[in-house]
Amino acid sequence: MSSPAAANITSVLKETRTFPPPADFAAKAHIKSQAEYEAMWQRAHDDPEGFWAEQAASLSWFKKWDKVHEWNEPFAKWFLGGKINVCYNCVDRHAEGARRNKPAILWEGEPGDTRVLTYADLHREVRKFANVLKDQGLKPGDRVTIYMPLIPEAAVAMLACARIGVTHSVIFGGFSDTAVADRNNDAQARMVITADGGWRRGKVVPLKHNVDAALDKSPTVEKCIVFNRCNQPVAMKAGRDLWWHELMATASEQCPAAELDSEHPLYILYTSGSTGKPKGVLHTTAGYLLGVSCTHRWVFDLREEDVFWCTADIGWVTGHSYSVYGPLCNGATTVMYEGAPDTPQKDRFWAIVEKYKVNTFYTAPTAIRAFLKWGNEWPQKRDLSSLRLLGTVGEPINPEAWMWYHEVIGGGRCPIVDTWWQTETGMILIAPLPGAIATKPGSATRPLPGVVADIVDKQGRSLPANQGGLLVIRKPWPAMLRTIFGDDERFKQQYWLQVPHVYFTADGSRRDDDGYFWIMGRVDDVLNVAGHRLSTMEVESALVHHPKVAEAAVVGKPDEIKGEGIACFVTLRAGNTPTEELKKELIQHVAKEIGALARPDEIRFTEALPKTRSGKIMRRLLRDIASGRQTTGDTTTLEDYSILAKLREEEE
Ligand code: WT7
Repeated sequence: MSSPAAANITSVLKETRTFPPPADFAAKAHIKSQAEYEAMWQRAHDDPEGFWAEQAASLSWFKKWDKVHEWNEPFAKWFLGGKINVCYNCVDRHAEGARRNKPAILWEGEPGDTRVLTYADLHREVRKFANVLKDQGLKPGDRVTIYMPLIPEAAVAMLACARIGVTHSVIFGGFSDTAVADRNNDAQARMVITADGGWRRGKVVPLKHNVDAALDKSPTVEKCIVFNRCNQPVAMKAGRDLWWHELMATASEQCPAAELDSEHPLYILYTSGSTGKPKGVLHTTAGYLLGVSCTHRWVFDLREEDVFWCTADIGWVTGHSYSVYGPLCNGATTVMYEGAPDTPQKDRFWAIVEKYKVNTFYTAPTAIRAFLKWGNEWPQKRDLSSLRLLGTVGEPINPEAWMWYHEVIGGGRCPIVDTWWQTETGMILIAPLPGAIATKPGSATRPLPGVVADIVDKQGRSLPANQGGLLVIRKPWPAMLRTIFGDDERFKQQYWLQVPHVYFTADGSRRDDDGYFWIMGRVDDVLNVAGHRLSTMEVESALVHHPKVAEAAVVGKPDEIKGEGIACFVTLRAGNTPTEELKKELIQHVAKEIGALARPDEIRFTEALPKTRSGKIMRRLLRDIASGRQTTGDTTTLEDYSILAKLREEEE
C-alpha cells in the first residue's frame, strides 16, 4: 500500500510551451473559452447537486430520482430512487430514433476482416444475447466473467449483462488462467463468456484453453459460453460449455431492458495496483453512465459525425468508459481494432485512421513512445488529415512524446487532451476542454466541472503552487467507485484513511501558477536522493528529451551516501547503438537539464522495459534488478516475462 508519509516532492520539470486552442476549433466547440469553462466549474462547485441533476437530463430514465446525492463517508449514492438502464441508454434510444442506421461499432480484426454494427444491429444482438443469459438462469445481481478478444461480441456481452442487471467482470485476454480463476472466485462468477481465441501478432491467443484451466479452479462457475472467432479446435465440456452461435440461433429478439435502481452494480473491474491482491473496483449504474457520457462529450468535444477511436482493450477501464459506455450513450460511432499496432506492419493504426477517417484518436503514452521509436516513416505513409483531436491516458506523457504526437500525428493542428483518471474514478477527472483550455506538453491541465482536485501534504493541507505533493479529490463525483467488491474495509484503508476526509489517488502532482496539474506518477515511485524527493517521471522526461532516446525508466537503488542513487533503464530510437560514450553523454544531459542533484549514477541500455499488460512500466521490478535483488513480488501482471530475463542477462 502506498504510504503518503513524506508528501513533499521536489519538482524539476521546466516546461513552458503553451498551445492555445486553435481559433476555428474553439469557435465550434461545446465549451468555447476559458471563461466559459471557469463559469461551468464554479457553478458545479457551488451547487454540485443542481449541476449534476441538470446534466442527468441527458439520460433516459424510467423513473426520475428522488434525491441527487447522499454522502455517508466514504460511501456515495447518486440519483437515489431513480430507475434506469445502461443498455437502454446506450442502444435502444438510438436504435429507436434518428440514429437507427448510424454505425455504432466500426470493427476491424487483426487479419483484416471488418464488420459494421449499426445501432439497429446492436439492438438486435444485445436483446438476443440478453435472452440467452436469462435462459441460462442468470438473474439481476449475478456476476459474469467476460474474457474475450476485442470483437463486437465483447461489447454485446457487456451491454446484454447491463440490460438484465447482471454485473460483469471483464478480464483482459492477456491474463493467465490463474488470474482468471482468482477473479472468478473473488467475484463468485456464475458464468464465463469467452471465445475460442483471438488474433494477436498473427497468432491465436488460446482463450478457451485458458478458461478450461481456470474453470478447474473456479467452483462457482456453472456455464461457459464460447464465441467462435478463430475456428480453433477447442474442448467443449458437456453440460457446461455452450456455443454462442447455437444459443443465438434460437434466441428471441424480445427482451425489455430491466428497470434498475440507480445504484445497481454495473460492473467489477480488477485492478492490480502496484502490489498485492487485485482489487475488484465496483461501479454502479446511473452515476457512472452520467460521468462517462458527460466527460466523453466535453473532453472529446463530440459531434454527431465523429468517428471516435479509443485504442484501449475492453479489458481496461478506458475500454469500458470510452470505447463502450461513454460513446454509445452519446450515440457516437466507436472504432474497435482487435490486434497489435505493428501487425502486419508498424503503420497499422495509421492505416485504420486513414481507412475509417477517424477524427478523434485516444491512446496511451506507452504506445506513443513505441511509435516514436519506430520512426516517422510509418505515420507519414498514411493520410491522417481526418484527425482533429488527439488524446492520451494511462501515464504521465513526457513533453518530448507529447510534441512528437502533436507534430507527427496531429500535423500541428490537433489539440491534445491529456486525460488523468483511474480505474477507480470511472471517468476522466483532470483534462483540458480542447476548445477552452490552452494545453502545455506534459500537463493534464485543469479539473473538469464537478471535480474538486487538490494537492496536499499528508495531513490534507493544501500546498501552494509549484510544490509537489499528494493528489487528492475533495468532493465525491458521480462515476466514483462505490467500494472494493466484498471488501469495504480495504476500500476505506486504501482511498479514504491515508489522508483524512478526501479521496487519495496515490499519485504525486504539482500545480503551476496557472492552476494546471502536472501529474508526477505514483507516490510509490518517488526517489529520495540526498534528501530530495524527486519524481522518476521527471528524470525520465529529461532522458527522453535526448534525441537518441526512445523510452526511459528511472528507479532508485540503495546508496550509502545519498540514501538512494538513480538508476536509468534506457531504450534507444531506431538506428542508434548503445556505447559507453553515450552513457556518459546521457548522464551529462540529465545533469544539465535538471541539475546535479538528479545526475544518474548508472545508465543501462535495454531492448525493452518490463510493463504491465496495460502498458505501465513496472518500476518495482526494475528496482529489484538495479539493487541486485531477487524479484519477490507479484509478477502476474507483467506483459512479457522474457524481458525480465533479458534485463538480468544484460546485467552480466
Ligand atoms: C493511474 C491509473 C485511467 C485509465 C487508464 C489507467 C496514471 C492515468 C494519466 C495521465 C499521468 C496518468 C496515474 C493513475 N495515469 N492517466 N493522463 N497523466 N498519469 O487506469 O490502471 O487505474 O491507472 O494511471 O498514475 O493513478 P489505471
